[in-house]
Amino acid sequence: MKALVFLLSLVLANVANVASAATRADTGGAFSLVDQDGARVTEKTFLGRPVLLYFGYTTCPDVCPLDLAKIARVAKRVSAEAGVDVKPIFVTVDPERDTPAKLKPYVHFFGADFSGLTGTPEEIAKIGDEYHVYSRKVPTADGTSYMVDHSTVLFLLGADGGYLDHYGRSLSIDEIVSRAVAKLAGAGSP
Ligand code: NI
Repeated sequence: MKALVFLLSLVLANVANVASAATRADTGGAFSLVDQDGARVTEKTFLGRPVLLYFGYTTCPDVCPLDLAKIARVAKRVSAEAGVDVKPIFVTVDPERDTPAKLKPYVHFFGADFSGLTGTPEEIAKIGDEYHVYSRKVPTADGTSYMVDHSTVLFLLGADGGYLDHYGRSLSIDEIVSRAVAKLAGAGSP
């Protein structure tokens, strides 16, 4: 019973975290990063298209691959249903290992339209702070490597680059698509 109560409190704490992020008007901001081709990009690079933004890392064993496959489907459906071309962007939380050369085949596995962004640890920390993204290195049991524990929130940005909405991974594709389409319609996106 104690274990159950503890588990429940963890779940509730997570729900509270997601809910508080929703009310933050300060989510998002300027960034300068490097894309999968080694080109310097900023928030201005993606203006004119709504963006689906997700933070993770290429050696993530299970969560990132599942979420990116889901995001690819969400992007296709939102693009079709909202009549806008939605851009999926993956930002690494593991900049020491995720070079442009490593990001390129990884993101393109999920879709030719995906961008994969990396940068210096400081640049990654900056965009992480702007989106209130959590990430933490966790050494593997043998101590020779590490995993990265990270947030799994998907952000929707409008064509003006501003934050519109975010989605926890418990939401289905249908739920995300309908909310994103409504948000984009409300935002008066092209
Ligand atoms: Ni991951």
